[in-house]
Amino acid sequence: MRKPLIAGNWKMNGSKASVTTLLEGVVGGMQDLSNVDVAVCVPFPYLEQSERMLKGSAVALGAQNLCTESGGAFTGEVSASMLLDFGCHVVICGHSERREYYGEDDAIVAAKIAQAVSAGLRPIFCVGETLEQRQQGETDAVIAGQVDGVIERIGIEIFRKVEIAYEPVWAIGTGMTATPEQAQDVHAFIRARIAALDPEIAAGIRILYGGSMKPGNASELLAQPDLDGGLIGGASLDATDFLAICRAG
Ligand code: G3H
Repeated sequence: MRKPLIAGNWKMNGSKASVTTLLEGVVGGMQDLSNVDVAVCVPFPYLEQSERMLKGSAVALGAQNLCTESGGAFTGEVSASMLLDFGCHVVICGHSERREYYGEDDAIVAAKIAQAVSAGLRPIFCVGETLEQRQQGETDAVIAGQVDGVIERIGIEIFRKVEIAYEPVWAIGTGMTATPEQAQDVHAFIRARIAALDPEIAAGIRILYGGSMKPGNASELLAQPDLDGGLIGGASLDATDFLAICRAG
């Protein structure tokens, strides 16, 4: 059985004061949440504060990005080992905002996943189609391309240590959630694609859904057989909402 993972992606939001309030709220509400893994992916400047506040709690710390290289002359970059140094367990790789605004392609995403795994971090590998691609009937082809584009470069074995997040770009931050059926279809497609290469890895891998997941729609989405959790943006910035989604997991 796959234990659900609910991961918050705070994106570029927060301040020292708001991080304190948010993490106090999340940690304080974790008592009845043993059936679900919980993580928060925070902006780099708040890693130290978050590590301190999450110590001893069941909430895992994560980051939203890392460098393709392990260290050296890469101004402005952050390495996997630095994330480990601050107590990170997970890191988001290939989020659509990174792909769209920072030119991350499959080769970069694959290199980041490989860096993360070799350092002992668990990547959350994001895939998803745009609205135009869905309307053109290209969803499966786009998802297959993104999944294959990583597997071809770093192999399938590494997927024993990877989480996948299906995030339809048109549902991110828009309030337009995929229906449970739409999400399930794509999750099943991703699992089948992996199963064709390794059925054991496919059966064990967690595939999260991301895109306007809220307390009001989380239960229905998470009830789908191939949805193993959520990658939560906006709703992870409010402890009450985030905990409500965790409880639905
Ligand atoms: O990584 C999280 C996703 O981009 C979803 O964001 O929940 O604000 O739609 P959202």
